[in-house]
Amino acid sequence: MKIAIGSDHAGFEVKQQLKNLITGLGHECLDKGTLSQDSCDYPDYARAVAQSVSTGECDCGILVCGTGIGMSMAANKVRGIRAAKVCSEFESKMSRQHNNANVLCLGARSLDYETQIKPIAQTWLTTEFEGGRHERRVGKIMALEEDWRS
Ligand code: RB5
Repeated sequence: MKIAIGSDHAGFEVKQQLKNLITGLGHECLDKGTLSQDSCDYPDYARAVAQSVSTGECDCGILVCGTGIGMSMAANKVRGIRAAKVCSEFESKMSRQHNNANVLCLGARSLDYETQIKPIAQTWLTTEFEGGRHERRVGKIMALEEDWRS
């Protein structure tokens, strides 16, 4: 898979670790920044990763900020994006099986890399969407993008 990855300053170190994990698993990784620990604005990187997934440049994306909250809020504004802020392996699995999440958002300040972030990312990258009844539900999420009243 081709995976877009991005972070702000708070997630920079974890992004670097995740890049090694992703390439080690045999995937291609496109780093959309940030490229240092200098203070920056997370929506800029959420936008870059989300647009990469939305346009089809990448198959999916991973975003890291302090909590994962800001990144998920911003990424979900981009058409076609289903960004999930995930805190556990269970949520990681469900976000793929039931919600067909195409962007994973993680909190570098809320989660430990080795014991939480690494297994969450591994699970997310290896779990397939179940389809079936979930297809209809995810379809209803995506239909909200067309609803001018919402
Ligand atoms: C940066 O201080 C912090 O606000 C950001 O990384 C993120 O947690 C926002 O949701």
